[in-house]
Amino acid sequence: MSATFGTRFRLTIFGESHGPAIGMVIDGLPAGMPIDEDAVAQDMARRAPGNDPTATARREADRVRIVSGLLSGRATGAPLCGVIENTNVRPADYAQLSSLMRPGHADYAGHVKFRGYNDPRGGGAFSGRLTAPLVFAGSVARQLLAPMGVEIGAHIAAIAGVEDARFDPVRVDGERLRALRNLRFPLLDPSVEAAMRAAVQEARNAQDSVGGVIECAATGVRAGVGDPFFDSVESVTAHLLFSIPAIKAVEFGDGFGLAALRGSEANDPLRLREDRVVAASNHNGGVTGGITDGMPVLLRVAVKPTPSIAREQQTVDVAAMREATLRVQGRHDPCIVPRAVPVVESALAVALADLMLCDPFPTDA
Ligand SMILES: Cc1cc2nc3c(=O)[nH]c(=O)nc-3n(C[C@H](O)[C@H](O)[C@H](O)COP(=O)(O)O)c2cc1C
Repeated sequence: MSATFGTRFRLTIFGESHGPAIGMVIDGLPAGMPIDEDAVAQDMARRAPGNDPTATARREADRVRIVSGLLSGRATGAPLCGVIENTNVRPADYAQLSSLMRPGHADYAGHVKFRGYNDPRGGGAFSGRLTAPLVFAGSVARQLLAPMGVEIGAHIAAIAGVEDARFDPVRVDGERLRALRNLRFPLLDPSVEAAMRAAVQEARNAQDSVGGVIECAATGVRAGVGDPFFDSVESVTAHLLFSIPAIKAVEFGDGFGLAALRGSEANDPLRLREDRVVAASNHNGGVTGGITDGMPVLLRVAVKPTPSIAREQQTVDVAAMREATLRVQGRHDPCIVPRAVPVVESALAVALADLMLCDPFPTDA
């Protein structure tokens, strides 16, 4: 199993949901880079469980204990390593899951892959809990990108079919992105919050779950970041986005919508604003040829409904090798979408940090 990502901004994550701790190691940070631990703590709190009725009742502070790579508020240049204790574990909730495979979760695929040696408690290494280290890395990446003028933010674009407004693809406002990061339930149009929450509650009452969509944007990314082919901005970012449990689709710009357009509609006309080339529209999400064009980077992801539901489901008992039924016990998010918002932002921040650290220009600037 590989748990390492990146070329320059190299991230390794470790841990399991109900083991003693989870954490991460980041290699490649420039020595002397200031790291604001309060800002990191704020980002961690946005993802932490137990803070909203749409989330699991498991309460975790998700405090990061940095054990190397930081001295007097600055990166030392050594690997930055942080540990997050798992304090609120209830392994007994998962006793049945070593043999009864949850449909839609990673239980069966993981059982086959690791020949039954994997830790099944709380989803083990497949748990959404492993997104906490990604949010830590995203927060550090964001601090690396901020002096380059890059701002990243996201919002809940839909839950159970109830839709929020969309970002203006041409004029995404950095101030707006920062404001979204201060919201527990980030929406562009707050009037849809009640309908979204009602849909989550209705699913919970029906012992079921719901999914949704997250829209994420980065502003201030200069033109020319990324490479054609394998290290395209889309490839690197999608690699990280698809690493997030429960993300099942990613689109950049108009994505699947582009398939129904004509070239004359899909092309983003170029104009001159003083001596700067700008596009009049942004159907391509700020990336063409795998390389940023100076427009806001825009993407959307689909989050599937939480697989662990209390409703009775058909499954297989792999110990007895017979068909069985299962009612999932334990504490689960009836909707993953709100907690996944900072995780999606983090994936984009880490991808851009990795691409921009690979690129001599920003570090010379
Ligand atoms: C922040 C977050 C929280 C999650 N919480 C739960 C949960 O409480 N219960 C659950 O069954 N799945 C949860 N998941 C999703 C599963 O981990 C995921 O669906 C599973 O590992 C299977 O992977 P896949 O959906 O990517 O195929 C969560 C995911 C994220 C990102």
